[in-house]
Amino acid sequence: MVDRHLFVIFGGSGDLARRKLLPSLYRLLQRREVADRCLVLGVGTSRMSDDDYRRMAAQALTAAGLDSGRAGEWCRQALFYQSTADGYEALGKRIAHIEAEQDLPGNRVFYLALPPPVFPAAITGLGEAGLATGAGWTRLVVEKPFGTDLESARRLNDLIHRWFEESQIYRIDHYLGKETVQNLMTFRFANPMFESVWNRDRVEKVEITVAEQLGVEGRAGYYDRAGAVRDIVQNHLTQLLCLVAMEPPASFEAERIRNEKVKVVEAIGPIELDQVLLGQYTSGRIDGETVPGYLDAEGVPPDSTTPTFVALRLGVGTWRWQGVPFYLRTGKRLPRRLTEIVVTFRQPPLCFFHGTTDGCQIHSNVLVIALQPDEGFSLRFDVKAPGSDTRVDPQALHFRYSEAYGRLPDAYETLILDVLEGDQTLFVRADEVEASWRAYDPVLESAGTPHSYPAGTWGPAAVSPQLALEAWTPG
Ligand code: BG6
Repeated sequence: MVDRHLFVIFGGSGDLARRKLLPSLYRLLQRREVADRCLVLGVGTSRMSDDDYRRMAAQALTAAGLDSGRAGEWCRQALFYQSTADGYEALGKRIAHIEAEQDLPGNRVFYLALPPPVFPAAITGLGEAGLATGAGWTRLVVEKPFGTDLESARRLNDLIHRWFEESQIYRIDHYLGKETVQNLMTFRFANPMFESVWNRDRVEKVEITVAEQLGVEGRAGYYDRAGAVRDIVQNHLTQLLCLVAMEPPASFEAERIRNEKVKVVEAIGPIELDQVLLGQYTSGRIDGETVPGYLDAEGVPPDSTTPTFVALRLGVGTWRWQGVPFYLRTGKRLPRRLTEIVVTFRQPPLCFFHGTTDGCQIHSNVLVIALQPDEGFSLRFDVKAPGSDTRVDPQALHFRYSEAYGRLPDAYETLILDVLEGDQTLFVRADEVEASWRAYDPVLESAGTPHSYPAGTWGPAAVSPQLALEAWTPG
């Protein structure tokens, strides 16, 4: 059971709070993980009464499909609001007042669900008002993106470290909270059968893909400055790469695991610019409907060269992976939503099964780990097709989470509970975030003009051979 605490959400009435944080807190309450131990203080620039905030929160919970009666009651009892327009001293006093009134021991979470440009003001405000420490524990949660390049990430780390210890800081990458992503460690380290072939001798290549059907969805202000490398590659895709490529930690403690992940990021070889393919979607058709191109999305400058698609090839220069290509790919407005890791194993050294016209009939063994939306995995292997002639057919073994377990918890439920329990395993450490920017800064600095691709296609695939990227058509 978690300690009694005050959960302070900066950006308390914003999109993230309404869509993810408040519903996740309420679900944790329903699961009896936090019971009556969590009070919430929404913080924002606008002026709002506690009652207004409670009404807004209740609507958000209803919109998230949560039971309106009990959820409304929770909002009335456990939620408060304070505007930053009155300053951080006033915020400190309000926190102290709620804690005294509700008999809380002084444990606090400060969750920065804010646009990145205002992180520094909030962190400085908390620090100067003496709120970085308190009577109980104090934890700071920072949403991604953490900086926009190595330099800005360092500045942000330095600023936070002026007030907070690293052990208080929880840098969120919500991919790490997904069950299927956490399962990567279990899959690798509980099943020696896979671990013994998980290396350069047996693996030919690894492909990690985050494909989205959605466009920028009203977030052009953020997205046009970020682009696909900052939005997905530097964080979500790199986290997946770490979990695929890391060495077994000495134990499952947070620091040991994070040490191994940092080693992977530090081993990312210099990325060759001719191994990077950028794209930007134009108008096209998705699920039978015509959708506008990126340049026609509201708020996007008409001459924007922001990439909405990236495919790149990199190497991880470790004893285990030297020479194995890793392909990272992501794009918006692709034919369907799909996040998967595909590990292709090397073929046998000799081929005994020749077809009449097409040479060796053997297919590579392929492990497909589907992270979403149809969570599970499949393993492809060859069998002899029945009959008098020898014909080799690929078949697959499948596992589906939905068949075995039903609903999976939302990533934010998992991550919030970890913050409340003080477990930093699934959060990104300062050195890791900096190492990651170090790997991708050269790509950002010399990004050329993106190739266009029609919405509803798998990216600018036609130009990939000349960029030495393999044609990409996910299964
Ligand atoms: C966010 C990005 O971090 O991840 C979005 O900012 C993206 O652009 C989203 O759509 C994808 O997350 P998920 O969980 O839907 O794969």
